[in-house]
Amino acid sequence: MEQIVITSSEKKDIYQEVLPQIASLVSAETNLIANMANTCAVLKEVFNWWWVGFYLVENEQELVLGPFQGPLACTRIAKGKGVCGAAWLQQQTIIVPNVDLFPGHIACSSASKSEIVLPLVIQGKMVAVLDIDSEKLAHFDADDQYFLEKILSFFDSI
Ligand code: SME
Repeated sequence: MEQIVITSSEKKDIYQEVLPQIASLVSAETNLIANMANTCAVLKEVFNWWWVGFYLVENEQELVLGPFQGPLACTRIAKGKGVCGAAWLQQQTIIVPNVDLFPGHIACSSASKSEIVLPLVIQGKMVAVLDIDSEKLAHFDADDQYFLEKILSFFDSI
């Protein structure tokens, strides 16, 4: 599907609209997987990113594919590997404007050009990462980080 070009201010408006929607979805359901699935669905629908999904921390050893929207993806990522593994290890958001320049980037799809990965920490425990990929270079910025971190903070209360 064609990527819609939106301005920075339109993007913020969209985030402002979906924030309460996701907050209410997440507060109405206690199951983590269900909440992840609906969060991906909402984000994919409004932004039409190439790929949006969660990787879950499994046994403190590796990440395993969780709910997502988009083409099929790698199922397992070792600790510290790729952008997802690095965000897990560092427990911080990583924005990659050009994935080809990120050492160790895991190319699940050659269409993906830039990405943002955010840790999901619930009650102090690192449970997953949210990975969003775009077929456009430098698609993600500090505004995405701000709003996506806000969205993930809703998960802390479930
Ligand atoms: N890009 C990720 C791998 C996951 S896929 O893109 C869905 C990474 O390097 O961590």
